Amino acid sequence: MILNVFDDHTDLSFQAARIICDQIKAKPDSVICFASGETPLSAYSLFTTLMMAEQIDYQHFTLIGLDEWVGVPPENHGSCAWFLRTNVINPLNLLPGQYRLFDGMTSDLPGECVAMDEFISERGGLDLIVVGIGMNGHIGFNEPGVSPDLYSHVIELDEITSTVGQKYFKEETRLTKGITLGIRHLREAKTAMLLASGERKAPIMKATLEGEISMEVPATIMREHPNGLVLIDQKAASLLTARE
Ligand code: PGA
Repeated sequence: MILNVFDDHTDLSFQAARIICDQIKAKPDSVICFASGETPLSAYSLFTTLMMAEQIDYQHFTLIGLDEWVGVPPENHGSCAWFLRTNVINPLNLLPGQYRLFDGMTSDLPGECVAMDEFISERGGLDLIVVGIGMNGHIGFNEPGVSPDLYSHVIELDEITSTVGQKYFKEETRLTKGITLGIRHLREAKTAMLLASGERKAPIMKATLEGEISMEVPATIMREHPNGLVLIDQKAASLLTARE
């Protein structure tokens, strides 16, 4: 795993955008998983701008949505689907066959998990997975205590996730379950990139990088990834004792 500490969120976002662009440049049919959230927002905006400015062929890569709130429709602005459509899929005009997002409204959630896993494996697995980190150390909706061996699954949301998740919604929304790619997808991705920014992430980044590797803090799995990249800013790094 490589840790890079940037001066601020802007520098971090430029580097993250560059890495996603370079992945597609090097392998136009890359399969890339995109997280939702405040942290990667600027990186995605820079990514779509760079792709067009540098005329990189983006007709052949595949976008995978990391997760979704169960019971939240895609037209809700707090949904992960809405976020990815607005910030990546629509700006790049991706074709319908070029992306796969979880349907959090389906009556067959187990079937949705199987369909997502098949979609990914049929395309040779993930080349790159871009993730944020929750205040409790979750990745996607892989909450503390999750099995590291799961692919896509449905999970009861941690109290912290349900509470912090309200920030994405205009109105208070009942958030009890999530559907998510599993830690196994991250472990098997050729490259895994975690982004974290701001003081509020400093305690969980310390636990992630300096605490015991355990599924009590799912993000600690990044330390075992042979091609793990952790991009954080100075504020998120402020509690680290050792900076490499
Ligand atoms: P954030 O979300 O980028 O909005 O902080 C991260 C996460 O919960 O995974």
